[in-house]
Amino acid sequence: MRKKTDALVSKQDTHFFNVFSLVIGLLVAVAVGLFALARIVASHTQDLQVLSDAEYSKNVHARIGPPVKEAIAGRDNSALAIKPAEGTAEGGASGTAVAAAMPQNGTQLFEQTCNVCHGQGIGGAPKAGDKAAWAARIAEGKAILYEHALKGFQGKAGVMPPKGGRLDAPDDLVKQAVDHMVQMAQ
Ligand code: HEC
Repeated sequence: MRKKTDALVSKQDTHFFNVFSLVIGLLVAVAVGLFALARIVASHTQDLQVLSDAEYSKNVHARIGPPVKEAIAGRDNSALAIKPAEGTAEGGASGTAVAAAMPQNGTQLFEQTCNVCHGQGIGGAPKAGDKAAWAARIAEGKAILYEHALKGFQGKAGVMPPKGGRLDAPDDLVKQAVDHMVQMAQ
């Protein structure tokens, strides 16, 4: 009697095992199929979309472009102009944001723009406040200093870009910044 039940149970077990394996197998096949389908669909849409995305290609251009741009006295250096920070373009306050970015006096222009090079003496720039570096330049007279600051200047030490790169700054403001640096070196 007992033997008969054993055989019955084991037969049921085998049946269950077979069905179970079949279902698992089918599910795996469906999953692999879905994966392959997704890959195929993506290869026709996603890659192409990424490559034709304007933002993406712009970034690629920026990354593979020349790493350094040099200012050359007497040439168009407008690409080097330090652009005012892009403030809140939307929302009515656009005008004020840009206007606020323009320094109000020579000292501010110096701190915002000239200080980038003249603060630490980068690229051959005479360090602001360094009397020895400025004495000979001051001796040239302010007219020359103004002109070199406004129009740019290629000296022995390096390149002074026109208006220090801040091409939208009014001439008077740049002159005030020169005055400020001259004052610091006296
Ligand atoms: C990109 C770096 C850089 C920035 C920014 C910069 N300068 Fe200069 N500047 C130089 C260098 C380099 C020289 C020295 C050139 C030389 O004598 O060879 C110089 C020289 C000068 C001189 C002396 C010119 C002379 O005849 O000896 C003045 C004045 C001057 N800069 C003013 C300014 C003012 C004002 C600003 C800001 C509006 C400014 N610079 C921003 C790099 C810079």
